[in-house]
Amino acid sequence: SEFPVITIDGPSGVGKGTLAQYLTCKTGFHLLDSGAIYRSLAYGVTANQIAIDDVASLVALAETLPVEFKATSIIYDGTDVTAKVRTEEVAAVASTVAAIPEVRSALLNRQKAFAQSPGLIADGRDMGTVVFPGSPLKLYLTASAAVRAERRVKQLKNQGIDANIAQITKDIEERDLRDSSRKTAPLKPADDAIIIDTSDLDINEVCQKAMALLWDRN
Ligand code: C5P
Repeated sequence: SEFPVITIDGPSGVGKGTLAQYLTCKTGFHLLDSGAIYRSLAYGVTANQIAIDDVASLVALAETLPVEFKATSIIYDGTDVTAKVRTEEVAAVASTVAAIPEVRSALLNRQKAFAQSPGLIADGRDMGTVVFPGSPLKLYLTASAAVRAERRVKQLKNQGIDANIAQITKDIEERDLRDSSRKTAPLKPADDAIIIDTSDLDINEVCQKAMALLWDRN
């Protein structure tokens, strides 16, 4: 891409979203929450009762996905679905359809189009490996499974979503395993990614670390 793209990849619950928002504020760059695209697709799949193995219909929906991002809101076909797509149920469907190569390629150009002047902060699973391989700064966030589940439950509770820690932990482990074991664009750090283990860092420390790396590159 013509404009600088900073990629942030990693499993769920490592603080990617918060770091992405922080870097967006600091740099004035655009933000791509690629997970929100996959979650919106999952929402549409469920709303339209599309079968998970009906690849032609999944691709057709992916190509014309009626989703818009307005500030911090996700608008699907005119309806605000921001809260609805945040559930682990939607995430499970997202991760199932995200494993289908044809679905991923149908969403590729749409993601690339976010790279606009002055630059982009891209949050996801394959930002550094597939969508923006030329990125000059690739971050890969990790954390222990227990810490990630705990953060996710806290996040859901803050959003007013009732969460059972045992169930959430199981669901997240399943989803991360599915994301990292799929053949196409699996969750993994790019060869030139900088890995940040956030298990023992609070979100401010993660942001400071990323900012220091960003200054380093300039
Ligand atoms: O990041 P988030 O939890 O919102 O992503 C939901 C799901 O979407 C992930 O578990 C993953 O299966 C899929 N996803 C993906 N590639 C991305 C972003 C998300 O496959 N770049």
